[in-house]
Amino acid sequence: MIKKKLTLIFGGKSEEHEISILGARKIFSDLDKNKYDISFIGIDKNGVFKLLKEIPDAKAMFFEEKMILDNEIITHLMNTDIVFAILHGNNGEDGNIQGLFELLGVKYVGCDVLQSSLTIDKHMTREFLRLNNIPVVEFKMMRKGEPIPDINEYPVFVKPASLGSSIGVTKVKSEDELSSAIEEAFKYDDKILIDKAIIGREIECAILAGEITGVGEIRPSNEFYDYEAKYFDGGMSEVIVPADISEETENKIREYTSKISDLLNIKTISRVDYFVRDEEIFFNEINSIPGYTEYSMYSMLCGNIGYKGSEILDILISKVK
Ligand SMILES: Nc1ncnc2c1ncn2[C@@H]1O[C@H](COP(=O)(O)OP(=O)(O)O)[C@@H](O)[C@H]1O
Ligand SMILES: [Mg+2]
Repeated sequence: MIKKKLTLIFGGKSEEHEISILGARKIFSDLDKNKYDISFIGIDKNGVFKLLKEIPDAKAMFFEEKMILDNEIITHLMNTDIVFAILHGNNGEDGNIQGLFELLGVKYVGCDVLQSSLTIDKHMTREFLRLNNIPVVEFKMMRKGEPIPDINEYPVFVKPASLGSSIGVTKVKSEDELSSAIEEAFKYDDKILIDKAIIGREIECAILAGEITGVGEIRPSNEFYDYEAKYFDGGMSEVIVPADISEETENKIREYTSKISDLLNIKTISRVDYFVRDEEIFFNEINSIPGYTEYSMYSMLCGNIGYKGSEILDILISKVK
């Protein structure tokens, strides 16, 4: 069998650099080496692309080179059959690198430019879905320099509009904590959201090609699913698949996810996150490149509908246009 030339891209300028490297390590270990001839491009913390012989440990990469993209990289990309960019946050999950692939005529796994740029922005995604009758978390949007909106009920969650991994997210319990939380979120974005806190459960659903998985639950080890609880709590946060919720609520969430997949024409990969309070469902966000570490929700949800490791990746790769 002729192997496909596949290039894994990881790292990046975003705050989620190290998480991306962990994801690449997992994907590399799952990929069927009989089918794919795999090469690596790392992007360092300054945004410099470099061909690498292997995937390094999940530490910040800094390369000596100064050119963001040199001829070697462009030639490599144009000669590869498929690119799999496991990047999170800005420049990776927001349509920018997808635009580069489009310009170069490179085939790539996952969401396209529009899907990526819409879903990275929690504000725009929620506005769009709300118009299409998906129930979304109640929130106020604030741009840098604008007055702080009136908040009449606490707790709230303050967060950058476009990031991930809970970076810059603060649970605010009273008015006197609000301005420092806003300042923190503005470190990462010029637009932030102040969400009404949904005191309930965190339920997630996934899209794998044309299929909608079942649902899983996150039970964070901290007060909420912050950066530490996500990645560095030694496995204390629980990822429960399938979630122990009523069939009715599960079906409703799967229906919403299916509608979202159709509305945005996402037929590749995404994880769609909700909060559930009693039986009430609130859409939170879409992750167009979901976390792909060892015990990530995405692979567990796909596993639950019968797909394991290399199979999931084969399906995603088969969807490349
Ligand atoms: N409105 C909310 N109600 C309850 N918990 C929230 C809310 N917003 C955020 N959280 C908590 O903060 C975490 C991170 O927020 P989220 O909006 O998912 O941002 P990120 O893109 O960084 O994952 C969530 O997983 C959840 O634990
Ligand atoms: Mg989240």
